[in-house]
Amino acid sequence: MTSSVAAELPAQPSDVTEPIEGNYFVAAYPPLSAWTGAQVSALHEALARPAPAAPLGLYIHLPFCGKKCDYCYYLSYIAQPAAVVDRYLDSVVREIALQAAHPAVKGRPMSFAYFGGGTPSTLSTAQVTRLGEGLRRAPAWDGIEEVTFECAPRSVRPAFLAALRKIGVTRVSMGVQSFDNDLLRLNGRVHLAEDVSRAFSLLRHAGFAWVNLDLMCGLVGETDEKWRETIRRVIDLEPDSVTIYQTEIPRNTQLYRDLKSGALPASPVSWETKRARLEEGFLELERSGYTVVSAYNAVKDPHSHRFLYQDYLWRGADMLGLGVAAFGYFGGVHYQNEVALETYEAAVERGELPVKRAFKLSLCDQIVREFVLQLKLGEVPLAPFRDRFGVDITHEFDTPLRALGAEGWLTVSDTSVRMTRKGLLRVDRLLPHFYDSQFQDVRYT
Ligand SMILES: C[S@@+](CC[C@H](N)C(=O)[O-])C[C@H]1O[C@@H](n2cnc3c(N)ncnc32)[C@H](O)[C@@H]1O
Ligand code: SF4
Repeated sequence: MTSSVAAELPAQPSDVTEPIEGNYFVAAYPPLSAWTGAQVSALHEALARPAPAAPLGLYIHLPFCGKKCDYCYYLSYIAQPAAVVDRYLDSVVREIALQAAHPAVKGRPMSFAYFGGGTPSTLSTAQVTRLGEGLRRAPAWDGIEEVTFECAPRSVRPAFLAALRKIGVTRVSMGVQSFDNDLLRLNGRVHLAEDVSRAFSLLRHAGFAWVNLDLMCGLVGETDEKWRETIRRVIDLEPDSVTIYQTEIPRNTQLYRDLKSGALPASPVSWETKRARLEEGFLELERSGYTVVSAYNAVKDPHSHRFLYQDYLWRGADMLGLGVAAFGYFGGVHYQNEVALETYEAAVERGELPVKRAFKLSLCDQIVREFVLQLKLGEVPLAPFRDRFGVDITHEFDTPLRALGAEGWLTVSDTSVRMTRKGLLRVDRLLPHFYDSQFQDVRYT
């Protein structure tokens, strides 16, 4: 590194007022708004290099849902005919073939895959089988360690689950959000609590090695009582892990439009309350034997259930993003695919990678990226940064580490940087303190 990242950072108070709307979750660094069409060539250059030793993964975006939830900001197309879905899946399979022809991908074994959405479980059994078989051809999935598939409760059915097992899915993540039916209806969700119980027993019966349930704290209309009941019900089911997201109200959601027009059916929940509920949820899960392994996850057995997608990606692995609007990270280049279905499919049809924007990270950027993402895990060991990048994190980030340490959000030792529980509950708010100054105040998307 030629310059100290931390030296460029202005000291910032971390108690800046928190707007109720906008994004909270940090999924990438630098922020998406810095990625440009002009940098797409950097991805082509990375793909043309000889295959590196880093693990390789796949993210496959399946952008179809039965209905749009009021809070959802993911790209999804609602209630599409089978022919539209079929055509899309053909494009995805063609896209992996285009990727696999590059020297940096050719012959490399696949370590992990993640089918996200949208609602991947709205595919038919025949569609998911065809997709799985198409993707597995190249690069090879023979030794793949983890394949995650996102499901929503109403679309979980036995034949579909059997097909998932057949294509190699090891980890199913189901969006539950709440066990309170009024709250589910109020937030535009299609399923009810009884659908969760039915779907969960089908998942158990199908024999997946790992079933994760997603919850959201701070849904509109939620009370302390309703949240406690949701935690109690999820613990009763004994999933292998529980993910809890603090509800965001991004500007491209129905929830935001309702907030602005005054049509919101209840007051939005403050960030302070969301954090308090998340803290209580974590405490209850810990009392029931779960271990908190990140700012969002509690796991029953942390030794047998390590979330490899996250572990690999946050430590610099390569991941190809397939599908419309999908995100990828390859050879130190962040990228996103075309964000409209027609544009995406037309590019693949022409035999071109359907990439819309990208960002080539400098070595400094890579250090910041891995450090901030790993802070979400609660503790970042210093040694790997010394070994891989030749830097002492505590020196590089001296100023923000001191500032955040003084406020009680983290502690620094000779071997690691560790978030306190209070710090972990607000970690995504704190991460910009470590950003390069040019990315400090930019929009996230
Ligand atoms: C793409 S969705 C997953 C699967 C499926 N479509 C579903 O909704 O059940 C991934 C997860 O993101 C979370 N999520 C979606 N919108 C959110 C928001 N506005 N704030 C916080 N979490 C959100 C939900 O917990 C959801 O389960
Ligand atoms: S939260 Fe899930 S089901 Fe709801 S619209 Fe978003 S992707 Fe679809």
